[in-house]
Amino acid sequence: MNPRPIGVFDSGIGGLTVVRELLHQLPHESLVYFGDTARVPYGNKSPETVRRYSREIAGYLLGQDVKMIVVACNTASAHALEDLQRACAVPVEGVVGPGARAAARHTRTGRIGVIGTAGTMASGAYARAIRAGAPEAYVVERACPLFVPLVEEGWLDHPATKLIAHEYLDPLTDERIDTLVLGCTHYPLLRKVIGAVMGPGVTLVDSAEATAAVVVERLQERGLLGAPSGNGIDHFFVTDSSDRFREVGSRFLGREIERLEQVDLTE
Ligand code: DGL
Repeated sequence: MNPRPIGVFDSGIGGLTVVRELLHQLPHESLVYFGDTARVPYGNKSPETVRRYSREIAGYLLGQDVKMIVVACNTASAHALEDLQRACAVPVEGVVGPGARAAARHTRTGRIGVIGTAGTMASGAYARAIRAGAPEAYVVERACPLFVPLVEEGWLDHPATKLIAHEYLDPLTDERIDTLVLGCTHYPLLRKVIGAVMGPGVTLVDSAEATAAVVVERLQERGLLGAPSGNGIDHFFVTDSSDRFREVGSRFLGREIERLEQVDLTE
């Protein structure tokens, strides 16, 4: 039994969708969440910059004595996962691999769509990971950059969101995909709108959900699970003032955020 916390990081608030799944699947574990709210978004930054930010955050989490690091940000997973796995002495898991494997399992026709930030799509990380499990798969990727600000605005069911969803997703319906990966932290909150545009014949794969299941497996394999009687303590760190994080974050998390602290990574 290992009582140390699991470290989770994201460019900002979005990674709380992964935390929500982790809390659901691992209610007894303690979590340390790091949201880089001062430097968000990562989705339109260069791979080098995202790797540098990710290394800084992983260093901070290791300083919190975490037993594992979960890269909840799809863009950081796409650009920095291997780098972090080489550099860190604890297991590091990202969201791309679990999401891609879940899609490869779900597809019946082998035609898979992936949506995410411009950076995640440009990296081709999802397409590579899907083809690793399903070499014959036809993968079509589409960046949907406006979804992130719409979600943060709380416009989950707004007419503007529906209009933009059609603009982004109609070309994917023409591709006759049967599975669509929600390859960005924010997109699970748009599940209803995305599902309505794609229609009932398309399975939506939530990378956050798939990742939490893989984290459980990794902890089990390595004997790192916490005590089943433990009552998990959650601690949240952000790099910019925390009011907005608290407010919007509760929506992502589905409950109040209690222990929240602002930190300076340059110190
Ligand atoms: N967390 C990012 C992701 O999942 C979305 C927000 C951003 O661009 O930083 O790719």
